[in-house]
Amino acid sequence: MSQTAEALARTPRPGEQTDILRVEHLSHSFGGVNAVDDCSLQVPANQITALIGPNGAGKSTLINVVSGFYPAQKRGTIFFNGHNITGWPTYRRANAGLIRTFQISRGYGGMTVLENLMVPPKKQSGESLLNAIFRPRLVAAEEARHLEKALQLLDTFGLYEKRDEYARNLSGGQKRLLEMARALMADPTLLLLDEPMAGVNPALADQLAQHIVNLAKQTGITFLLVEHNLGIVDQICDHVIVMANGRALATGTMAEIRANQQVVEAYLGG
Ligand SMILES: Nc1ncnc2c1ncn2[C@@H]1O[C@H](COP(=O)(O)OP(=O)(O)OP(=O)(O)O)[C@@H](O)[C@H]1O
Ligand SMILES: [Mg+2]
Repeated sequence: MSQTAEALARTPRPGEQTDILRVEHLSHSFGGVNAVDDCSLQVPANQITALIGPNGAGKSTLINVVSGFYPAQKRGTIFFNGHNITGWPTYRRANAGLIRTFQISRGYGGMTVLENLMVPPKKQSGESLLNAIFRPRLVAAEEARHLEKALQLLDTFGLYEKRDEYARNLSGGQKRLLEMARALMADPTLLLLDEPMAGVNPALADQLAQHIVNLAKQTGITFLLVEHNLGIVDQICDHVIVMANGRALATGTMAEIRANQQVVEAYLGG
């Protein structure tokens, strides 16, 4: 498909909901530091959006507030798929399809690669004791589906051969791939990624970028990714949001962003 045809294919029909995420006048502070400061932005559905900006701009804080990892401080509103989710706990956002990746922490490092993916996702019947006792076949079938999905994801991400390896023994780049695979087990509709390529060698970073592009195309998952490598942003992102001093300063295509004097100043000044 040509680039224009692809852009057209992604263009929503009239009346179709276009923004999967809307943040309105959101603020979040740590003591006296206003990390996110009256920030408003929109993330279009079924696209790859980059969140860029100088160090300390508030990108990670925004991701953490949107995912619910930092509880809302009652300033501003977050809409996901048209629902006001500002007060929702993380698990409820995750159940609705709003997922963020987490680094493979120590606890998870002591599990195998496959076990990392088999940690029960939402709505798994095995979690209910009654189901386990009275509907064992349902639970077994679900586990089988879950296992198949996990193995498929490991295959996609080139980690199949490593499935019985402890997660802590993976390289930095492989851990990043596993983090993404784990997030995908939860069937996200919006996936938040905070610097997924950080510390990853260029070859693997390219692979990861290609996975994101393929997933966006094949599954329609919306991606919001914080990324410092503007070359990668240019290559894979449809839409760019620039943050500076806790708020969204500019949005547009990478070409529009590059031509924006305010943005250039924000970077040089920061
Ligand atoms: N947990 C925290 N406690 C105190 N201050 C924090 C905390 N997290 C972030 N900050 C401060 O909030 C501001 C925004 O930080 P944040 O990490 O969100 O920026 P960022 O855009 O992700 O930066 P980077 O590109 O360096 O990752 C900074 O001034 C930072 O020092
Ligand atoms: Mg950050």
